[in-house]
Amino acid sequence: MSFKQDFRLQSIELNEKRVIRDAIHDYIHIDHLLIWRLINTKEMQRLRRIKQLGGTYQVFQSAEHSRFVHSLGVYQVVRRMLETECLDQELSDYDKLCVMCAGLLHDIGHGPFSHSFEGVFEENHEDMTVRMILEDSEVHDVLVSLYEDLPKDVASIIQHTHPHQILIQMVSSQLDADRMDYLLRDSYMSGTTYGQFDMSRILRTMRICEGQIVYKESGVQAIENYILARYHMYWQVYYHPTARSYEHLLQSVFQRVKDLYYAHYAFRTDLRYLIPMLEQRVEVANFVALDEAVVLYYFKEFTHENDFILSDLSARFLDRHLFKFMQLKSREDLEKIREIAREKGYHPDYYIISDNQKQIPYLHYGESGELSEIEILDSEGHLSPLPMKSEIVSAILNSKRFKSDQKVFFPKEIKDELSIFQ
Ligand code: NI
Repeated sequence: MSFKQDFRLQSIELNEKRVIRDAIHDYIHIDHLLIWRLINTKEMQRLRRIKQLGGTYQVFQSAEHSRFVHSLGVYQVVRRMLETECLDQELSDYDKLCVMCAGLLHDIGHGPFSHSFEGVFEENHEDMTVRMILEDSEVHDVLVSLYEDLPKDVASIIQHTHPHQILIQMVSSQLDADRMDYLLRDSYMSGTTYGQFDMSRILRTMRICEGQIVYKESGVQAIENYILARYHMYWQVYYHPTARSYEHLLQSVFQRVKDLYYAHYAFRTDLRYLIPMLEQRVEVANFVALDEAVVLYYFKEFTHENDFILSDLSARFLDRHLFKFMQLKSREDLEKIREIAREKGYHPDYYIISDNQKQIPYLHYGESGELSEIEILDSEGHLSPLPMKSEIVSAILNSKRFKSDQKVFFPKEIKDELSIFQ
């Protein structure tokens, strides 16, 4: 008999089970020693110092929640999924443990102010999450202390290579524990209601069919609501232009640091925490040492640097003098806008940023390799993809008018000069 077959969750049950009070799930239940030990690793605790929504709190002032609490939430949603009859019977105790760990750890590889940071330093949070699980870290030590293959099995769920499709679907698919937690949480914390949907209903209609998670037809309305919740959250919260402005400003600061470093500029600030990123030789330990507390300290220090661009951008960031923005009509306009900025003394590579945001509410097979469609099970036992069963989802997909939004961001000092492009 192998460890995986013999393993019983009961063997790692805590004598005294723990609960964590939570604004979204009421109680988060910790039943197992291994989960408790993972929560107390330095890599998990670091997530307290990384905000779930990066700079979005500059627009939605109360959205200051951390990736730590989101990770606990994802673990709790996974745990609730495991309590459903179909999954409880389908999965072995070892698989249940793996998927709870994957839910809890899925975001540990995020850097400070994630998206801006990843863009400039070419880090990928999924790769880093996998490295933290497999390489030298407290998380790795805790996992391996139970069973030598546990790190590899947990990582393979996050990498989408685990042979058991259901485990991947639970943590990362079009309807997964990650999305369910972040929509409910971000919506609650931002004070918007667009992200709310009936999670209990969705979980109740979950079934297993042909080796995958599917949903009963009576759950279609709750799923439609979830798809729309996600769509609205993207436009109202995640892609809010002021939040984008803040991220671009951050990205310009990081970019300036990188360019100065390679131009051998003499920094007054001790860059020790950033050097591994700048030189692209990142060890797990260097990465864990970086969090938003460190980055914010750096920005304060950068305001004393001799380089005007770096000190100016850092001060704008700290004092919330964000870039202004307007719709961008053409590439030619962008060139002219860059030229005007240059004449006014603003280096366009750092002060003029354009972006184009798009969000597709639902993906068919083949549109993204690893994603499966949401399958609906009818009363005769047949499966069909969600758009076949939902007029609302199918109408959105057939409209071919997926919203996209192209904007240009610039310092408010040149607002008047740019008014001709509005
Ligand atoms: Ni997440």
